[in-house]
Amino acid sequence: MTADQEKQQAALEAVKFIKNNMVVGLGTGSTAKHMILAVGDLVKRGMNLTCVPSSEATQKIALELGIKIVDLHEIDKIDITIDGADECDENFQLIKGGGGALLREKILAWNTKYNIIIADSSKAVKKLGAFKLPIEVIPFATKQILNFLEAENLQPIQRTKDGQPYSTDENNYIIDVDIFKIEDLKALEIKLLKVPGIVETGLFLDTTNLIILGNESGPILKY
Ligand code: A5P
Repeated sequence: MTADQEKQQAALEAVKFIKNNMVVGLGTGSTAKHMILAVGDLVKRGMNLTCVPSSEATQKIALELGIKIVDLHEIDKIDITIDGADECDENFQLIKGGGGALLREKILAWNTKYNIIIADSSKAVKKLGAFKLPIEVIPFATKQILNFLEAENLQPIQRTKDGQPYSTDENNYIIDVDIFKIEDLKALEIKLLKVPGIVETGLFLDTTNLIILGNESGPILKY
């Protein structure tokens, strides 16, 4: 089974949790895309769903499939959000934001009753941090934040695209850092979020209810 087949398998398993009249949060990335396509099928088959996208890219795909999209401020709570992850560990802690959508993804996760993470098996790790942690920062403060992260030994690298600073949907920048040696991720999260200009981190430590991993002999559900 390829990684992409595992992503699709996990996505198809996750959409089984979607029921008629739900408000659904749509994640971002290649795994989430399989889920959005499946949500599109549910809508075509007559299911009434209202969806909140976690990025401009996801919104575009959803609209093309005829999925009803609303802004977060138009609803109260999201019933279920299905999103991918760059890494997940056995304690349901995640690194997200490889695709740069971490801020809206975290806002969705925070405002969701039931969060499902879907991933291919390579995303399940014993210890978070082989994947660099994305941190979203205000452009105005980027240089000082880079200095701060350097002093913290986090080996910061500002993300670029086509030779320019990578810009998020909220017009912020991303700095990727190395957290592999850090043991206390909660303390790290608190420390980072205290820095003026750091808007959000890709650490999702306590938002996930269910992880679905693609697997050769059928999807693995972790509650
Ligand atoms: C988007 O910013 C990310 O949080 C994605 O959810 C994450 O990078 C997983 O992406 P893939 O499904 O493409 O691996």
